[in-house]
Amino acid sequence: MRPYEIQDAESVFKVVKLREIAETTISMPHPYPRETVDWWINFVRENMEKGSAYEFGIFLKDRPSEYVGNCGFVSVSNQHNHGELGYFISPDYWNKGYSTEACSKLLDFGFSKLGLERVFGRCMAKNIASKRVMEKCGLKVEGVAKHEVLKWDNYEDVFHLGLIRSEWDYI
Ligand SMILES: CC(C)(COP(=O)(O)OP(=O)(O)OC[C@H]1O[C@@H](n2cnc3c(N)ncnc32)[C@H](O)[C@@H]1OP(=O)(O)O)[C@@H](O)C(=O)NCCC(=O)NCCS
Repeated sequence: MRPYEIQDAESVFKVVKLREIAETTISMPHPYPRETVDWWINFVRENMEKGSAYEFGIFLKDRPSEYVGNCGFVSVSNQHNHGELGYFISPDYWNKGYSTEACSKLLDFGFSKLGLERVFGRCMAKNIASKRVMEKCGLKVEGVAKHEVLKWDNYEDVFHLGLIRSEWDYI
């Protein structure tokens, strides 16, 4: 996992433009305009400098030019010391444990380096894989917000999951 560079734009576009990625993400546009990727990479880099979000590209260990997906804190509140998880993986690499590996590294980073008190995430109730990823990383379901999201003309129920520092210490 590493911070994004503007040269990553083409690889990122190949993934974010896919319908399979947009379908279960809460706010990803579809179709995804190519120029938005450049804007997004700059946005992510600026956020990291400000400390308001930390998103990383995931690449294969033995083929570092191969972009697998994204994992990060899409927002960090310095006031409340919490961070919200966000991630996606290219469908070519689904169900190989990449998202779980990346999220678990991110939790280490969030609790140890950023000193967060709480990490949380949200996923559509139908997104079984995402809920499973968060649960495998130790997050617990805190509730379900019915019809929280209007996605492609359907209201979707959304699971809220969270983990606080003292619970993470015991994982
Ligand atoms: C959600 C997502 C990131 C998961 O990435 P991944 O790298 O495939 O996740 P992992 O391989 O680490 O773990 C997936 C787990 O879900 C399970 N799973 C996947 N689909 C499932 C299904 N239909 N029913 C039951 N379990 C399922 C897998 O078996 C695995 O669990 P296991 O290790 O206990 O067997 C990926 O599917 C994705 O990018 N989806 C589109 C974007 C998205 O939804 N992002 C999250 C928004 S909240």
